[in-house]
Amino acid sequence: MSDNRPILVVNGPNLNLLGTRQPEIYGSTTLADIENLCRGTAADLGRKVECFQSNHEGAIIDRIHAARGTVAGLVMNAGAYTHTSVAIRDAVLAAELPLIEVHLSNVHAREPFRHVSYLADIAVAVISGLGPDGYVAAIRHLVARET
Ligand code: DQA
Repeated sequence: MSDNRPILVVNGPNLNLLGTRQPEIYGSTTLADIENLCRGTAADLGRKVECFQSNHEGAIIDRIHAARGTVAGLVMNAGAYTHTSVAIRDAVLAAELPLIEVHLSNVHAREPFRHVSYLADIAVAVISGLGPDGYVAAIRHLVARET
């Protein structure tokens, strides 16, 4: 059944620096560009997104808790916390939200510590290496799977 609640888009640590941060890896798109892309993608589907970015693990956890029951799903690029945070994993499980894990870069083509994800096995899907298009695909898929 279709759901008209918003989709929550969470970006984790250092993603506020997109555009200037290692552009050879992450490209020149800024976080504001990505959030606008997400808003536009959702609007085309008659939906809304709520965008949140934090460099702090606890703030991300609090935002996920607040989303329980109020959003239709979660698109999250948890940045480096992907590879370290049992606490964010537990928050997603507690919030009972369908998650799509997104990475701008192909983490599997990078250092071995980036091949570990505490989120992948509890996610609907993992999108890694599509750049900003990954967020678009994630939002489209979360909406499509409702019907
Ligand atoms: C990232 C990949 C992570 O390994 C890294 O720590 C990031 C960004 C990505 O979008 O490619 O901060 O999640």
